[in-house]
Amino acid sequence: MHNTIIDIVREVAEVLALKYSFQPNKNGRTNVIQIKNLNEKPVKLTPVDSDSPKGVQQILKEIETLIGLDNIKQLLFEIQAYVEIQKKRKMENLHNEPIVLHMIFKGNPGTGKTTVARYIGKLFKELNVLNKGHIVEIERADLVGEYIGHTAIKTKEQIQKALGGVLFIDEAYSLARGGEKDFGKEAIDVIVKAMEDYKDQIIFILAGYKDEMEWFLKCNPGLRSRFPIHIEFPDYSINELVKIAELMLKNREYILTKDAKIILKNKIQEKLFYGHEHSGNARMVRNLIEKAIRLQAVRLIERKNITREDLLLITIEDIQEATRAI
Ligand SMILES: Nc1ncnc2c1ncn2[C@@H]1O[C@H](COP(=O)(O)OP(=O)(O)OP(=O)(O)O)[C@@H](O)[C@H]1O
Ligand SMILES: [Mg+2]
Repeated sequence: MHNTIIDIVREVAEVLALKYSFQPNKNGRTNVIQIKNLNEKPVKLTPVDSDSPKGVQQILKEIETLIGLDNIKQLLFEIQAYVEIQKKRKMENLHNEPIVLHMIFKGNPGTGKTTVARYIGKLFKELNVLNKGHIVEIERADLVGEYIGHTAIKTKEQIQKALGGVLFIDEAYSLARGGEKDFGKEAIDVIVKAMEDYKDQIIFILAGYKDEMEWFLKCNPGLRSRFPIHIEFPDYSINELVKIAELMLKNREYILTKDAKIILKNKIQEKLFYGHEHSGNARMVRNLIEKAIRLQAVRLIERKNITREDLLLITIEDIQEATRAI
C-alpha cells in the first residue's frame, strides 16, 4: 500500500515535469519524499583570481569539475581567497588572523568527503599552508590500542605520518562511544594536544554521520571551538548520481548508450527508494559502473571483430546485469 502511494506520487511528478527528481529524506531514514527542483540556478562560483599561483588555479579548476557540491566548492574558494589575502596582509605588516583550518565533515558514506579532503590537501600545498598536502585516512582502530599507553603510541604514529598534510579521521564520533574509561578518550586527548603542537603542520579533519558528529561535539565541548570549519555533505540527487556515473565512465573512456542511460537512472532511483538507507551515494554508483565495465568485457571477450565502438559502449544489458549483481 505504502509503496503504491510512492509509485503514484513518483509517476505523477514524472509526468508533470521531468525536471523534478525524487530524493529520499536527507538521512534516508524516513519515507518522506523531497522533490528537488533541478532547475535551481547553480551557485555562482567565485571566479579564479588570475593572480593566484598556477597550481592553485589548476586545483580550483579540478574542484569545479566535481558534480554538485556547490556550497562546498564555494566554501573552498572562500577559504583559498582568505588564506591568500591573510598572507598578503602579513607581507604588508597588517593585522592578520591566525589561519586555523581544522574541519568537521558531516555526511553519509559515499557523499564525497574523502574526495574533497584530498583536494583540500592539494590546495593547501599549493597555497604553501602545508608542505606535502598528502592525506592520511584513518579510523578508530588505527588510533585506539589494547592496553594502557598503547593508544598514545598509535595515535602519535599516525600524527607523525600526517605531518605536512591532512589527518582525516573517519567515523571520528566512535572515539567517544565508550565513555570516560574507553581508550578512545585518550586518542582524543592526544589529538587535541597535537592540534596545538602541530598547528601549522597538519590539518585535522574529523568526519562522520551528521547526527553522530553533532553528538560527538556536544560530548566534547572543547573540540567545537578548535574546528572552525564545518562542512555538510548532502546526499546526491538522482540526477547528480547519473552525472557522477557519466563522469566516471568518461574518465575511463567509456560511453553509455542513450537507452543505457535511461535504465541507469531508473535503477539508481530504485536503489534510492528500496535500498539500504545509505545506498543513495556515489560509492554505490562507482561499484555499479565498475561492475558494468567488467560485464562489458565478459560480453565482448568471446566475440570476433570487436570494433572501437564496441570497446567504448556500455549497453542496457551491461547496466541491467550490473544492477542485479550489486
Ligand atoms: N561530486 C562528485 N563528483 C564526482 N565523483 C564523486 C563525487 N563525489 C564522490 N565521487 C566519487 O564517489 C566515490 C565515493 O566518494 P568518497 O570516497 O569521496 O566518499 P566518502 O564520503 O569519503 O565515503 P565514505 O564515508 O564511505 O568514506 C569516489 O570514487 C569519488 O571519486
Ligand atoms: Mg571516505
